[in-house]
Amino acid sequence: MAGGGTGLKITDLIKCSSEDLPLEHAGRTRRRQLLYNSDLQDDEIKNILELTQRIKDRGPRDLLKGKTMGLIFQDPSLRTRVSFEVAMIQLGGSCIQLRTEGDLYALEASAETVMDGSAPEHVKDSARTLSGYLDAIGIRASRKGNDWASDREDVLLNGYAEHATVPVINLQSHMAHPCQALGDIFTMQSKVRSLAGRSLSLTWMQNPASPGLGIPHSLVLLAARMGMNIKLAHPQGFGLDEEVMQEAQEHASRMGGKLEVIHDIEEGTQGADFVYARSWHSLRCYDDPDREALMKRSLDHWIVTQELISASSSAWVMQPLPVRRNLSVTDEVLDGDRSLIYEQAKNRLHVQKALLLHLL
Ligand code: CP
Repeated sequence: MAGGGTGLKITDLIKCSSEDLPLEHAGRTRRRQLLYNSDLQDDEIKNILELTQRIKDRGPRDLLKGKTMGLIFQDPSLRTRVSFEVAMIQLGGSCIQLRTEGDLYALEASAETVMDGSAPEHVKDSARTLSGYLDAIGIRASRKGNDWASDREDVLLNGYAEHATVPVINLQSHMAHPCQALGDIFTMQSKVRSLAGRSLSLTWMQNPASPGLGIPHSLVLLAARMGMNIKLAHPQGFGLDEEVMQEAQEHASRMGGKLEVIHDIEEGTQGADFVYARSWHSLRCYDDPDREALMKRSLDHWIVTQELISASSSAWVMQPLPVRRNLSVTDEVLDGDRSLIYEQAKNRLHVQKALLLHLL
């Protein structure tokens, strides 16, 4: 198994049942998790993407029979929630849905703290207990605070990962949405095969709600690892996290790709193979939503229209959903024949099945 030292390639898993797996596979000690795509080595990513294609072509097998995954959602989700649940069912396992409000106790995540606040349970005790019942824990913990320096630490996610004894999967955090990025890379590869040297325009778009930075962060990092030429288009004040940009630049240099930032939507999307639309918070006024709303008043031209796409004659259009139709992207683009939005969403199911086989 790639990275696991068993000699079993991940692509072999689809050919055998769980009973066929060698003992050392079951007994390996390396902690398996996906908090960030950096948890996966290059060969592991390649193997997961290959396995995704096999699963997509041949259909699921009961390789995770008897396994149960717990899904913890602090924020709403349609695609991530349903695709993981269906993935586990199709692999012969099952899922338990948990919400942080109503189902779970509020959690304290700080170490060695006197728990005299409102949270009656520590993340350590929750993670250890759940590890006794579950074979994997997925967690979406991206509820926005007002301090980026604190939010970017992904404290709840990392708390679960530190204390759980089963694999923990990031279902979207402040800093990352690794499953979305894996699905997006798989979707792009299925159109052009090799992504090295292909151009990706990731463009900010108007949206009153300002979703988090997890998707753009993970996409930029993984696309750079694939050697893509990336244009990151956004208005002034909507830059990504500095450390993420630095890491992405390092990947781009290593892989012979490029990463450039452009503050103009037309220039930023010109000549792209893929135009990927997504909005995100301004880190410049993270603690001041009123100021951000004011900044956005003059940004209504940050909308992906057919006219914009036509300038890149053959660009595929991507958007991870949910999307504000006709405010962020027009119906004509979303429903047009170059739109990959539903393929992207569907590929989440296939790629997550491959990921679950890899981790479990
Ligand atoms: N793209 C995505 O993660 O969708 P959900 O928020 O519906 O899970």
